[in-house]
Amino acid sequence: MVNPDIDVPELEVRNLIATYGRGTREIVAVDDISFSIGKAECVAIVGESGSGKSTTGRCIAGLHLPSNGEIIFRGAPLPKQARDRTREQLQQVQIVFQNPDLSLNPSHTIRSIVGRPLEMLGGTRATTGELTELLERVQLSARVLGKYPSELSGGEKQRVAIARALAARPSIIICDEVTSALDVFVQATIVNLLDDLRQSGVSLLFITHNLGVVRSLANRAVVMKDGHIIEQGNTATIFEKAQHPYTQALYNAVPEID
Ligand SMILES: Nc1ncnc2c1ncn2[C@@H]1O[C@H](COP(=O)(O)OP(=O)(O)OP(=O)(O)O)[C@@H](O)[C@H]1O
Ligand SMILES: [Mg+2]
Repeated sequence: MVNPDIDVPELEVRNLIATYGRGTREIVAVDDISFSIGKAECVAIVGESGSGKSTTGRCIAGLHLPSNGEIIFRGAPLPKQARDRTREQLQQVQIVFQNPDLSLNPSHTIRSIVGRPLEMLGGTRATTGELTELLERVQLSARVLGKYPSELSGGEKQRVAIARALAARPSIIICDEVTSALDVFVQATIVNLLDDLRQSGVSLLFITHNLGVVRSLANRAVVMKDGHIIEQGNTATIFEKAQHPYTQALYNAVPEID
């Protein structure tokens, strides 16, 4: 019998191709890439602006229709578009974006933002106890429950966005530049939080052009350039013995944070 925990990665991306526009205006944003993410593993996608990182994340989340390839969750292909995925499939793969000001509804309280996925899951109104427990996982106090996003700091808002993703009890969280809008100290606290989540069994796809945070969080890295994967492997190996001059240049260009 196949043991899914050992034999099958949580997520596989196979031969993914994604484009924008049509005809002479078509641009190939992601050009035949394949990689996988194991359980409780953090894989970083790194690369310069425009290399296709976000498009990859959006295809996995079902938010952009790929022109070819498969997204396979625990051995079974996921429907390409989010609207064709089952509720359970939608819960399993969550995505958190760079800017919580755009992703959190300003007219909803934190209680309603974080409570909604809990209610979808449980079918009943989320209790203060459940909400408090979720907020504790992202190191926020239950005092924020009655507040609106505009009453929180950038780092707090990003924690709310992560708590909302966690409320769906996902197997995988795609983090697209989730620390990029934050100052370096707050970045470090978010990175620590994500690492705790990973250790608790959640797989992470960490998209960033900031290599400073990759080494402390990711087991493996996928290096993208112009829609292609030019290198992938163990993070330490990739950065210490980068085979490709592009990876070396990318790494040398970024200051480290602890
Ligand atoms: N909505 C869109 N319409 C047309 N082209 C797009 C769209 N979104 C992205 N692109 C193009 O697709 C390519 C890949 O973009 P993508 O956003 O995936 O890059 P990225 O690696 O995430 O960059 P960044 O680090 O700046 O976020 C780029 O050439 C970009 O201009
Ligand atoms: Mg991007």
